[in-house]
Amino acid sequence: MINLVDLLKPIEGAPHVVMVLGKGGVGKTSTSILISSELSRLGKTLLVSFDPAKHILKYLSISRPAEVIKVSDDFFVSQLDIEVSAKELTSKYSSLISDLFPSLSVLNLEDITKALKYAPGVEEEVFLNWLSSAYENKNFRFIVIDTPPTGISLRTLMLPKLYLLWLEKLINIRERIVSLRYVIAKTLGREVKVSDPALIKLYEMREKYGRVKEALTDPSRTSFVVVTNPEPLPMYELREVLKFLGEELSTSPKLLVMNKVLPEDIAVRLGAHEEQKAIIEEFTSLPGRSIMIPYVSNPPSKLEDILRLREAVTVVKGA
Ligand SMILES: Nc1ncnc2c1ncn2[C@@H]1O[C@H](COP(=O)(O)OP(=O)(O)O)[C@@H](O)[C@H]1O
Ligand SMILES: [Mg+2]
Repeated sequence: MINLVDLLKPIEGAPHVVMVLGKGGVGKTSTSILISSELSRLGKTLLVSFDPAKHILKYLSISRPAEVIKVSDDFFVSQLDIEVSAKELTSKYSSLISDLFPSLSVLNLEDITKALKYAPGVEEEVFLNWLSSAYENKNFRFIVIDTPPTGISLRTLMLPKLYLLWLEKLINIRERIVSLRYVIAKTLGREVKVSDPALIKLYEMREKYGRVKEALTDPSRTSFVVVTNPEPLPMYELREVLKFLGEELSTSPKLLVMNKVLPEDIAVRLGAHEEQKAIIEEFTSLPGRSIMIPYVSNPPSKLEDILRLREAVTVVKGA
């Protein structure tokens, strides 16, 4: 039997975050469960799903989202409810605004919160905030993430870099405001306030996003696993993800997974043999470690089914 843990090595730092990426429907959630179950043999593992379809609840027979639930000895799972988390986050930001700028109380904060709720980028922000706290979570040795749709995931992974650029500019402007205020107050002989809560917050944010950016690109803290199928669209998305990881994060996936490979006779019967063969050839030529999982006639619908897939895994490249 394949040892997925060996294939994910070297996994050093704790908590080590494993991000499972890939097009919807390829088997991201199933693969995340499989990997988490394997890793839990090494240490306490939390599997978190951002999948809006919440399939994980079905696979693991869980009724309530948003809580950490024990699956087996060292295997825990949690389904994030983006809507609930988005509400929490927007109200946190509203109170931050009112704390930092009490003079803004003329603005209707409730309206701001409502507007934030529908603002673009809220899901990315929820994901990023959660990710940032995951790296600080000392309760788990491994945190496996069943990621949201690729677009949201990649945009989220870009955010720390973007935020840091904005923050540099904002800090610069705020520092100038603070020092001008200081000069004016001194000139007028008024009491001088040295610390500026807004500036402190900006420094805090710069540190927080700097830490996430570093962790994301550090292979001892983060592993990327990309799942695909022998079909054009999942392969297209795989290429996009590989390009993104290389260009934006200067990293490469720790493991590639080709799931739902049709047994040869079925592929021939379906007339899909040539296409599958060409795709698998391309997949096999990609650098890094990779595995294949066959298409099973009874699609996995519960934990035991998924764990049974482990027996069918073949290693394409283990080195
Ligand atoms: N190896 C496989 N063979 C057959 N069906 C599979 C396989 N892996 C996953 N499936 C099925 O494909 C569907 C999508 O799987 P899931 O893990 O939920 O994917 P995703 O999270 O990428 O949307 C599910 O119905 C699941 O049972
Ligand atoms: Mg899923």
